[in-house]
Amino acid sequence: MKIIGTGRANPAVVVTNSMLEQFLDTSDEWIRERTGMAERRVISSEKLEDLAAEASLKAIEDAGLTPADIDYIICSNVVNEYATPGLSCIVQGIIGATCACIDVNAACSGFIYALDMADDRLKSGKAKNILVLAAEEPSRMVDWKDRSVCVLFGDGAGAVVVTEGEGMIGSRLTTVSKTDCLHYFRTLEPTPYITKEEEGKPMYMNGREVFKTAVLSSSRDIKTLLDAAGLKPEDIKYYVLHQANMRIIEAICNHLGLDMSHFPHNVDRYGNTSSASVPILLDELNREGKLQKGDKLVFSAFGAGFTTGACIIEWTK
Ligand code: COA
Repeated sequence: MKIIGTGRANPAVVVTNSMLEQFLDTSDEWIRERTGMAERRVISSEKLEDLAAEASLKAIEDAGLTPADIDYIICSNVVNEYATPGLSCIVQGIIGATCACIDVNAACSGFIYALDMADDRLKSGKAKNILVLAAEEPSRMVDWKDRSVCVLFGDGAGAVVVTEGEGMIGSRLTTVSKTDCLHYFRTLEPTPYITKEEEGKPMYMNGREVFKTAVLSSSRDIKTLLDAAGLKPEDIKYYVLHQANMRIIEAICNHLGLDMSHFPHNVDRYGNTSSASVPILLDELNREGKLQKGDKLVFSAFGAGFTTGACIIEWTK
């Protein structure tokens, strides 16, 4: 597998920390110090499927292809207005593709799970050009009165097009069922037979627990992959990490004994856009001309589950 195109789309509304101060007991200083975030983009009038389609069309164009050339779509998504059909099916219609489509939900790690599935599908010869996208609106999962959670998230979409090639050096996925520290319940339709108690609840997160688990598991995944590939941390040009918190990124940087020049970030501008954060950052690097052929990149993410996903990619574009 190799990546041949990237794209991204973010909502228009910018929510700054001082805007949050107006209705929450919080401060710009607290949010910057604890998270590195200054602002985030939040969906207002946009539909997530339109952002997802915009990111996808940009990635397809960057790859020098048309939607008719795409023969499989994998979309990472946690929530959107539709429970069914999958977001990938909706995006297929908007962009005018005709291939088979599937959604995956591995929370914030989802893009890397989707990329790993695309790699397998290419290896099996069942597809040639795959659109792998991640589109997320975590702003719709949080309680906007809960300052410990709502300040952390933003919405957005990122996409790549992959085809046969020698760009995937290694990947590692892990899942440990640990639903107590991070979850979100939605209500289902009532039936005449339901006797159990059910209640929709906004996102719950044990921030400290997630922080520790994220740093340890991401560092472990990256070291395991580097060892398996016979690479040293400094052989990687950029670590394109899930943008959940600047302090998590810095802690992983310390674990690897590197300086921050290897850790591009945009968490200050977008907050945590769940599984879209890695492809959004990758697209920024690509469009800013920061990636050269032969560069080695690490992608690493973690999220509810608890899931982690990491891979080493060689940039071949
Ligand atoms: N503004 C001001 N104060 C806040 C606040 C906010 N937005 N959110 C929480 N606080 C308060 C808490 O109530 C607590 O007050 P107390 O000491 O009086 O009880 C204090 O700040 C410290 O809270 P704590 O949760 O210990 O802070 P922290 O240093 O752990 O930072 C997070 C909180 C959420 C920023 C941090 O734990 C984190 O980033 N965790 C990982 C989250 C993550 O990555 N989630 C996504 C996974 S995909």
